[in-house]
Amino acid sequence: MVSVSTAAVPRRMPLGVRAPSAIETKRLLLRRPLPSDADAVFARYAGDPAVTRYLGWRTHRSVADSRMFLACCEAEWTQAGVGPYLLQSRENGEILGSTALRLSSPQQAATGYVLAQDAWGQGYATEALRAMRELALRIGVLRLTAICHPDHRASWRVMEKCGFTREGLLRGHAHFPNIAPGTAADVLCYALVFEPEWQPLVI
Ligand SMILES: CC(C)(COP(=O)(O)OP(=O)(O)OC[C@H]1O[C@@H](n2cnc3c(N)ncnc32)[C@H](O)[C@@H]1OP(=O)(O)O)[C@@H](O)C(=O)NCCC(=O)NCCS
Repeated sequence: MVSVSTAAVPRRMPLGVRAPSAIETKRLLLRRPLPSDADAVFARYAGDPAVTRYLGWRTHRSVADSRMFLACCEAEWTQAGVGPYLLQSRENGEILGSTALRLSSPQQAATGYVLAQDAWGQGYATEALRAMRELALRIGVLRLTAICHPDHRASWRVMEKCGFTREGLLRGHAHFPNIAPGTAADVLCYALVFEPEWQPLVI
């Protein structure tokens, strides 16, 4: 795995995205997941119903679910050149959670974050989202979005601290399988639109 700090990422990526497989922030290492992370992903956050309550995927029932998730991560990275990152403590190497950058077009992307319960309330989600914001900017994304359940105040707060603006309520837009399986639910949509001077030159 190549490890680079965000400072080493070129300002504009060349044709086709190839995001760094590792990014360092003050306290976190954000890195491309590996198949060998399955046990830690399951034990630290994906198998914990308190963590997955407001997420769009079902709580993992066993390490096999986490293995499948990691296989999907690998496929996404191979196809898009960017994808999920695991969040690891730089201090002790512990897996703290994950985040992602998902491109829907070369200039539009979505992000999100999830942390193990013992990592809540320490500013890690804000630190991870700031890193995704910086990565999005550097690979030429113009509009970065994130959605959350309308009751999930901690998640709004993270987005607002990172400069995202609430755009409104998307009705019947998402599925929260751990709250209301099989029901299309409303979500809050937040977005960050980068300033025009950051627009890449299109020839
Ligand atoms: C939501 C989550 C990502 C927040 O992570 P975190 O690292 O604790 O977030 P941060 O510490 O960076 O910031 C949280 C902010 O929300 C605030 N907050 C926390 N709980 C809150 C609540 N119930 N109501 C209002 N604000 C709340 C905190 O005070 C903090 O704001 P502050 O810095 O102004 O004090 C984390 O709780 C988590 O992983 N939950 C489970 C997965 C999840 O729901 N992910 C988001 C899906 S949209």
